[in-house]
Amino acid sequence: MMIAFSCNEKKDNTHTKESNITYVVNNHSYSNIEEINSTHIHLDLDVDFDSKTIQGVARHTMNNKGANKAIFDIKKLDIHKVTLGTEELETTFIIGDYDSILGSPLVIDISQKDTLINIYYSTHSESEALGWMDASLTHDKKFPFLYTQGEAILTRSWIPNQDLPENRITYSADIQVPVGMMAVMSASNPTETNDTGEYSFTMKQPVPSYLIALAVGELEFAPLDYMSGVYAEPDILEAAKKELQSIPRMIHSAEELYGEYLWERFDVLFLPYSFPFGGMENPRLTFATPTILAGDGSLLSLIAHELAHSWSGNLVTMANWDDFWLNEGFTVYFENRIMEKVEGKEIADMLMLINYQELEWTINRFMDEGLEVETHLKLNLEDRNPDDGMTDIAYNKGAFFLMALEEAVGRENFDKFLLDYFNAHKFQSITTETFVEYLNKNLIDKHNLDFNIDEWIYGPGTPSNITQIESPRFAAIQDLALEIQQGAELPKDLKREDKITQEWIAFIRAFKGNLSVEKMKEIDAQLHFRDSQNAEIMAEWFVLGIQNEYAELRPDIEAFLIKVGRRKFLEPLYTAMRDQSEESNKWALEVYKKARPNYHAISYLTIDNMLGL
Ligand code: BES
Ligand code: ZN
Repeated sequence: MMIAFSCNEKKDNTHTKESNITYVVNNHSYSNIEEINSTHIHLDLDVDFDSKTIQGVARHTMNNKGANKAIFDIKKLDIHKVTLGTEELETTFIIGDYDSILGSPLVIDISQKDTLINIYYSTHSESEALGWMDASLTHDKKFPFLYTQGEAILTRSWIPNQDLPENRITYSADIQVPVGMMAVMSASNPTETNDTGEYSFTMKQPVPSYLIALAVGELEFAPLDYMSGVYAEPDILEAAKKELQSIPRMIHSAEELYGEYLWERFDVLFLPYSFPFGGMENPRLTFATPTILAGDGSLLSLIAHELAHSWSGNLVTMANWDDFWLNEGFTVYFENRIMEKVEGKEIADMLMLINYQELEWTINRFMDEGLEVETHLKLNLEDRNPDDGMTDIAYNKGAFFLMALEEAVGRENFDKFLLDYFNAHKFQSITTETFVEYLNKNLIDKHNLDFNIDEWIYGPGTPSNITQIESPRFAAIQDLALEIQQGAELPKDLKREDKITQEWIAFIRAFKGNLSVEKMKEIDAQLHFRDSQNAEIMAEWFVLGIQNEYAELRPDIEAFLIKVGRRKFLEPLYTAMRDQSEESNKWALEVYKKARPNYHAISYLTIDNMLGL
């Protein structure tokens, strides 16, 4: 057996040389799926919290088209041995150069008849997909917690696999965890903790590898209806269940729009505060941040979003990270349609207006920085980290493109088109070009439409036929903000309950970074933003506080940053702290020093970079 391992930093992304072998990189993967592709993975894994490692075997069933090498993606995995077939005959392999984005190719010698490859491995303490949380960082503080995050290309840091979204696999797993803890996956799940710590899973619908997910913790389950429920630590289970009451209605609304829900169950798992995202659409089990538990259901559009991915993303998947907008743009559009059905048009419009503001800022920023190409829907992420595509362009420009199409053909026609689109491409991975072809044939030509598709997809900024959303309630609260900014008193009878979360966000944003500390204190005394327990409001308010040197807020901001690891909140807060003054930059570094150990790698790598560490 030969193991070659070197740790060169990247030089040339498309080709890595190792022992005269050239590895081709296709779609951020080294794997040779054209010759041989994985169709099913069985995982037999042991989760060890003491050493913070996962160890075991990944058994790949392969569709071998005559290859004598099988190439997999790995990132900082220790490969112990590789065997072939049910007889488990040991074979040789090579590990190519390490690339800081892509990881390494694992090249396994096989014969043209081999269809089962067993890879014995263990994860590294720095495996980027894995969030190992000490008990002190959980809600109940009794057991530690582990969760994985596969998207975009992190699955390779905990499972050796052909890690690209165009290959779909089914999977099964036997996972051993410490007794007293429960394991759950993006698969069929247990509803109770057993007394062996051994859990088995099956995922029979084929999914791209970024959707394989695992979490282990002290978990309990509470059903919402026959097909949906909540997993959470005991301490927050009741609150979580109450907050998520509208999930059955959301599922029903989504099915009414674009067809049957094809994943059998829709459960939501609440993670510790360190979870770097708001939500992740792991099939059958959405992973969610506890920061959406506002107590009033006002942050549930995030659940609508992850649910919508059950169609856009999980059923019809982008083939390539350059097509990321196919996942996220469709999902933001669909999310808003669900919200319109569940909460009404007035609220849905306010949600979309918030997206619009964010899109405008992002486009202006890219344009100012001379990064016009970043505002294209179709990206070119070759040689780059696919995470770079996670901007408001894919999400919100994508959604506004679909809204413009809807406006052009009418809702009824557009809904019919989308229903057919999901049905025609279910369980497939497609490119932007495939979508455009389908769009032209089934919508544009059919309705004799003249539409600027190319401008939307391959052009910069926002085309002029972008939908204009009006919201009288937003206009009113923005006017009030301007009056207050100019010295007017806050209306004495105004209470926080009088307006919804999204109105308060619009209110805070309307100050455009400029409000006197005196006014901020007055508002806090009456509207209690600083202790609102609503993470979206707090994060917006804290940024304004930093920009206006509202010193009394500092302990609250510090506590928030130490507790919450959601990147969407960390980025604007640390940016404001860094840029406000030299002194506040120093403060940012002090706070970050305390907070960093509580974050997931995805967040701390971003903030390290931002703060120049
Ligand atoms: N699939 C994304 C999360 C993601 C994207 C993780 C790219 C890694 C790489 C998820 O559906 C998402 O978009 N989450 C958003 C929520 C939202 C827009 C409502 C988030 O976490 O903020
Ligand atoms: Zn999404």
